[in-house]
Amino acid sequence: MNILLTGGLGYIGSHTAVTLTEAGHKVILLDNLSNSSLDVLERLQALTGKPFAFIEGDVRDTPLLSKMLADYRIDSVVHFAGLKAVGESLEKPVEYFSNNVQGAISLLQAMNDSGVYKLVFSSSATVYGEPEYLPLDEVHPTSATNPYGRTKLHIEEMLEDVSSSNSEWRIVCLRYFNPVGAHPSGLIGEDPSGIPNNLMPYIARVASGALPELNIFGDDYPTEDGTAIRDYIHVCDLAEGHGAAINYLDNQKGWHAINLGTGQGHSVFEMVRTFEKAIGQSLPHRVTARRAGDVAVCYAKTDKAYTELGWKAQRDLDEMCSSVWYFQNFQISKDKVA
Ligand code: NAD
Ligand code: WQD
Repeated sequence: MNILLTGGLGYIGSHTAVTLTEAGHKVILLDNLSNSSLDVLERLQALTGKPFAFIEGDVRDTPLLSKMLADYRIDSVVHFAGLKAVGESLEKPVEYFSNNVQGAISLLQAMNDSGVYKLVFSSSATVYGEPEYLPLDEVHPTSATNPYGRTKLHIEEMLEDVSSSNSEWRIVCLRYFNPVGAHPSGLIGEDPSGIPNNLMPYIARVASGALPELNIFGDDYPTEDGTAIRDYIHVCDLAEGHGAAINYLDNQKGWHAINLGTGQGHSVFEMVRTFEKAIGQSLPHRVTARRAGDVAVCYAKTDKAYTELGWKAQRDLDEMCSSVWYFQNFQISKDKVA
């Protein structure tokens, strides 16, 4: 199958590109390089031993998308492209609505005009807002607590309306929980520019010595050790979930929302301890105040992914931490050579 990945050079897109290529698909990548680099393209080619078709461009450029859909005879699209930092979305909401919502509209227009109706969308557990019960299943009420989350919610709702308008549409919204980890080759992983906002990349920078210590945002949550709990999922498991979703759309019409998580919650202290075990040294950290907007506990009900997609996360926390450390060291040794 010919599959277009928008945002295909980003963290999750690049891992999915590897998985889909290994499964025998032809993967075509579109990215505006706003949060990625051409270096990733070279690494993808080195990793798979295959050349990738890559177009540098913006998902809001509808004529470009239409041309790509036709030129590459695209069968399915996985839409990763977008902005994803919650804090930044509060400062720059218009940019978020433009990139994410306008980007999705542009893609839908191009797909509709080209008669390409299979779409997998990168959604997020953020659409559940403050959990009313746990684990979070797909019928849990949805809400948004920040502009980033609102873009995901708007897009999901838009996709549901679009699928009702024409029975040809086959759309899966994958609601990711907390993606972490890196490809075992050490060639691709999460490499945010500047100071990371998310836990795992921050821990990795502390471990490498680039940052002095980890601030643990609150140890007074109503959890066993007082720190907040999340459902961390290995990015390679997540990538495989996209392969399963694409196969699912061969036989399913309409709109579907499916969680991709492990179903297991882990605390921040547990993450620190597991990372310490992976690197064989202690990680400097201190407890600070809670971060505004954080929920205490969040983890997925994963039954739907299993029954509908036949997919289940396989990799454990040790593998998530050790792969991040391996990738981090690869980056450091590469920087030293450069
Ligand atoms: P990422 O920033 O690494 O990847 C996104 C890619 O899209 C980048 O390469 C960026 O350059 C590109 N891009 C952004 N705007 C674009 C545009 N207008 N046109 C073309 N390319 C554009 O992020 P990621 O972690 O790989 O996330 C991928 C998707 O998954 C995003 O939609 C994100 O909201 C969603 N998601 C991520 C997480 C997470 O924690 N990483 C969790 C839930 C959902
Ligand atoms: C995890 C835990 C922090 C950093 C975010 C988005 C969500 C989704 C995934 C896209 C929390 C704690 C963190 C640090 C810490 N993204 N922490 N010190 O907030 O669960 O989810 O990414 O859709 O929408 O909100 O992930 O990695 O930022 O935090 O103590 O330096 O680690 O308080 O409990 P989060 P995270």
